[in-house]
Amino acid sequence: MPSVLIKTYGCQMNERDTEQVASMFLAGGYELTKDEDTADIILINTCSVREKAELKAQGKMGLLCARPHAKPWVVYGFMGCMSQSCGQDLFRIIPRLDIVTGTRQYHNVYQLCNRLLRSRLGNPPTEPLRRGAHICHTEHEDGFQNAIRDHLPPSGHCTAFVSIMQGCDMRCSYCIVPSTRGEECSRPMDDILREARELVDRGVKEITLLGQIVNRYGKEQPLINGRSAFVRLLEQLSDIDGLERLRFTSPHPIGFREDLVRAYTYLPKLCSHIHFPMQSGSDRILALMRRPYKNEKYIRLCEAMREARPDLAITTDIIVGFPGETDDDYQQTKAAVERIQFDNAFIFQYSPRRDTIAAAMPDQICLRVKEERNHDLLETVNRIATARNNALVGTLQHILVESLSKNNPNRLQGRTSQNKPVMIPAGSAAIGSIVPVRITESTGFTLYGEPA
Ligand code: 5AD
Ligand code: SF4
Repeated sequence: MPSVLIKTYGCQMNERDTEQVASMFLAGGYELTKDEDTADIILINTCSVREKAELKAQGKMGLLCARPHAKPWVVYGFMGCMSQSCGQDLFRIIPRLDIVTGTRQYHNVYQLCNRLLRSRLGNPPTEPLRRGAHICHTEHEDGFQNAIRDHLPPSGHCTAFVSIMQGCDMRCSYCIVPSTRGEECSRPMDDILREARELVDRGVKEITLLGQIVNRYGKEQPLINGRSAFVRLLEQLSDIDGLERLRFTSPHPIGFREDLVRAYTYLPKLCSHIHFPMQSGSDRILALMRRPYKNEKYIRLCEAMREARPDLAITTDIIVGFPGETDDDYQQTKAAVERIQFDNAFIFQYSPRRDTIAAAMPDQICLRVKEERNHDLLETVNRIATARNNALVGTLQHILVESLSKNNPNRLQGRTSQNKPVMIPAGSAAIGSIVPVRITESTGFTLYGEPA
């Protein structure tokens, strides 16, 4: 049986795309492997949001291609955002690379790889073995929407991602995504509901809806009874028997209206966690970022959601060192973090991306200042996150038991509605069940508990 190894960098959208590609290989008679030395096909699903992520994937592939391999016919391929953006250039950087496919070609990856592998395995091979085949597909194929389609979740998983829209029509000045993922495009609601029901039939308890700006789902559709297409989708998904939990990521303050805030009051399956990117606490920087809202609006939305759902956990993304960010701008970001009391935040040092407006802006911030602000903000974020987690000790939380702990086979790991990881003793609950747990300990980031 031929084998394929797929390595994934980047966001949950990439993880979900990898799952889909993997399921096509499985259906084609391949097995999944983690062994770099014996895999017949080695694929890397790539991210291009920051330069570091791109270099990491290129470095990894460079190393893989350079080391000896048990199978001379091995096929090497890149897929996803970085290959969409770099295309043919990648063959110049890594000559032994065979296949490069973009973000609207995921559905073709299996066929391209399988065909190349078969031609190399022929007797005699019709394709040279030790030279890159240099096959590149990054075009935006018509009907690519079918690429966002159903897939089998990896067996035994009680959580699943469901992609509901792709692409982004915003033009944040720092962001490469609109050029790698293309225009916004939503999936029909019926397809999503059908996929969700199938997942639930296979034992999935928790679904996370994915989209670049997930709350803009179906934005061309009219409001019905004051409710957007996104809120109506949440309602219909909530009606599915057997589905216990619903999450979505990531929303944007634009198009985040009262109806979505209100959904937290009457949809109990909607989890008490939202990952809500703030990016900056300075209105001047938000304007330079072309984020069309003021910090006060962002804060008001957080407060309204917490009013609707008092135990809501809020996490965020913040960029430090955006071009022109003064110390005063940075202090405003820090003040917003203190005011909102995030449960956690991902802090990113601004990374100039090709063909973006911000990359050409004056007053680029030097690495030292970016690092200082990153370090300083991280201290604040960690202090608040630790305090919020410590405050959960002694409380009763319902956790969805997901798997054995990766680090300790004597423990099971699950997550609360607030998306906080909790460890419980192995054998104390069944994987896939939702159990009440008394939180007994917090290390600041991980919680420990006993089934109650
Ligand atoms: N530099 C640094 N961080 C970035 N992000 C997006 N583009 C850049 C960039 N050029 C961050 C944003 C976004 C997250 C996924 O990545 O905070 O929310
Ligand atoms: Fe990038 Fe802004 Fe679109 Fe998010 S909303 S994907 S940050 S352009």
